[in-house]
Amino acid sequence: MDRPHLVVLTRVAPVVLDRLREHARVTDVSELPRDAWGAALADAIGVLSSSNAPVDAAFLAEGPALRIVAMQSVGYDNVDVPGLRARGIVLTNSRGSLVEAVADLTYALVILAVRRLGLAMAWARSGRWMQADAPYGHDLAGATLGLIGFGAIGTAVARRAQASGMRVVYHTRTPRDDDATTGGAYRTFEQLLREADCVVTLVPLTPQTRGMFDDAAFAQMKPTATFVNAARGAVCDTGALLRALESGKIGGAALDVTDPEPLPPDHPLFARDDVVIVPHVGSATDETRTRMAMLAAENLIAFIDGKPLPTPVAI
Ligand code: DGY
Repeated sequence: MDRPHLVVLTRVAPVVLDRLREHARVTDVSELPRDAWGAALADAIGVLSSSNAPVDAAFLAEGPALRIVAMQSVGYDNVDVPGLRARGIVLTNSRGSLVEAVADLTYALVILAVRRLGLAMAWARSGRWMQADAPYGHDLAGATLGLIGFGAIGTAVARRAQASGMRVVYHTRTPRDDDATTGGAYRTFEQLLREADCVVTLVPLTPQTRGMFDDAAFAQMKPTATFVNAARGAVCDTGALLRALESGKIGGAALDVTDPEPLPPDHPLFARDDVVIVPHVGSATDETRTRMAMLAAENLIAFIDGKPLPTPVAI
């Protein structure tokens, strides 16, 4: 009998490819241009994808035999979910495998933003260090961190912030019932914007969250407050963020994600010393990316073997 054919769209560690090859015929197209994937997709029953390999309508049309899409990411906003649903294609993600790495990166961005380290680094580079101190940042201890989204990653960020002496408030669609354990306190979105010294977004990109950080949201924040986006770029209206920084409505920003992504090198946000931008590296450590890819692989293998999937997504 023919072995099932799996296609790997994103660069994964060799150990992951080896694991898949124990169960399937595997084609790795991660180094090929997108327009050269068609031949591999023609008879593929499953793909291992990630947040930078769109599984859109055109992609699905090239894969008539597809039965499972396994994401090496938690987010799946780049997947045509109605298209999957219409064809009964199964979706899995890699939740649970990247919490600590993303929380570390998110909290690193909080420190960079609150301490104004982008300004300080630019100051040192430009020679102004010789003449005067760089502009001061703000204390973390005693400041209020506002987390929009308070799941596994949000609570892991809260633990790091609490170790620095920060107060934590959060906003979720439904208030949690474990504030005594997490040490967080629920706020409405507007209350949180007005109260937090650093506002961090960790929400998935959905029709409800797209553009939730707009001119009106930034206008409610403190002029000294900072904004951190570790979720998806389109949760924030990039023009509104730029206007908020230019007009002094907020004090700075740190971004792991942008809209568009990648952000072109000549984008005005890159020219600002009060903005720190990193290229969507929340989960980008050797260990975490391998764990994420291996979880995606285990989902594909379980599917082939007819076993329960480790991390299915209900769509
Ligand atoms: C995720 O898992 O969604 C991260 O953003 C990496 O893409």
